[in-house]
Amino acid sequence: MKLSLGVFCLLGILIPGRIGLRLHYDGDQVLRVLPQTSEHVKQLQQLCDTLLLDLWKPLLPEDIQAGEELHIRVPASSLQELKGGLNQHLISYAVLIRDVQEQLDSSMPREGSSHWRVPEGYSYNVYHPMEEIYHWMYQIKESNSELVTQHYLGMTYENRPMYYLKISQPSNKAKKIIWMDCGIHAREWISPAFCQWFVKEILQNYKTDPKIKSFLQNLDVYILPVLNIDGYIYSWTTERLWRKSRSAHVNGTCFGTDLNRNFNGSWGSIGVSHNCSSLIFCGTGPESEPETKAVARFIEKRKSDVLCFLTIHSYGQYILTPYGYKTDLASNHQDLVEAAEKAAVALKEKHGTNFTVGPTSLVLYKNSGSSRDWAHMIGIPFSYTFELRDKGAYGFILPPDQIQPTCEETTTAVMTIIEYVNQKHFPNSAVAVTSGSLWLWLSVLFTWTLS
Ligand code: ARG
Ligand code: ZN
Repeated sequence: MKLSLGVFCLLGILIPGRIGLRLHYDGDQVLRVLPQTSEHVKQLQQLCDTLLLDLWKPLLPEDIQAGEELHIRVPASSLQELKGGLNQHLISYAVLIRDVQEQLDSSMPREGSSHWRVPEGYSYNVYHPMEEIYHWMYQIKESNSELVTQHYLGMTYENRPMYYLKISQPSNKAKKIIWMDCGIHAREWISPAFCQWFVKEILQNYKTDPKIKSFLQNLDVYILPVLNIDGYIYSWTTERLWRKSRSAHVNGTCFGTDLNRNFNGSWGSIGVSHNCSSLIFCGTGPESEPETKAVARFIEKRKSDVLCFLTIHSYGQYILTPYGYKTDLASNHQDLVEAAEKAAVALKEKHGTNFTVGPTSLVLYKNSGSSRDWAHMIGIPFSYTFELRDKGAYGFILPPDQIQPTCEETTTAVMTIIEYVNQKHFPNSAVAVTSGSLWLWLSVLFTWTLS
């Protein structure tokens, strides 16, 4: 069943709708469906199998459960049949996106339009194609050389260079590392937009914000704005809803590995597919993909210095902790959850958005080979996956007018986690108040010793 869905999905999206290479989604809808009984579940699994459906939530028909809502992109050609089937079996549904192509068109400013660039320079309120992100990285390090450097990490499958930005205040002190990557899944465009936003925020505020000032004394921040560069480009040029990398398999009969199932953490064991046409193909072995290998090699070399590993996705509004491949809790589960809950509270204060915090296998689904689990397994204490907005109203095609609020609230959350980690690891350096209270303690101790 898993197999045939993958094949159907692929067929469904490989038939071009119009002239040119780009795939269109005219008349496709995204539906929210609520199965209430195990009969409903079976009927839905069958419909997924016979029609060309693209499941957004859950990702696999076998993960459909009674009482849990589904989000499905339905090709225009299957809409009538699906709705007929749902009505016939009395399964309730609602339309989330009435026309996927219209929604996509309305989110993309026309090329050369004034939205694209603002007079002051780079606009952080639009999605940027990869060439612009490369250019942005160059500009950022050129104009902020006192704080930012750009470093080569490796090559993608299609031979594009991967670079990360290192944000580091010069000091002779050995510092610890915060890692953050974005864009491991191609279609989750809000994720690279966030990495760029976050860099901008640090640069704008590090001289004045006491919290940023304080953590930059102990921590360097490493940011990889787009991990899956080939996939990201493909989602711009050819197929907006592409998820995986672009590596070719089985003599070029199918493409792409789910890079977030390709890491060496209980690789290939659960919530993955070994069929290369599946959306969740885990690759041919752990780190079989050059993008995965590049990240893993680098982090492994520095693992004793990395305190925090953050990987940014959409959608669903979660801060997820290890593990995804098993229901056992991480050894520092309490701390992980405490930091994430603080982050979720701060996030909500910004725009009222609700995030769920918890272990992936318990609050979302089981999957193996994620970078978050792998990072924790090699000894990085604070490892999280963020699933940004929304909860399905727009799903993977979050409109650009939500970039700003999404990035604002996520910035607050990430800053909260970094502060937590900083205070935990460098308890005496946090703020001026701490040295004040240290003196108080010393004098108390001194008086007590004398008496
Ligand atoms: N970014 C996640 C992934 O692709 C999505 C997870 C949950 N959300 C969802 N709509 N299925 O793995
Ligand atoms: Zn994702």
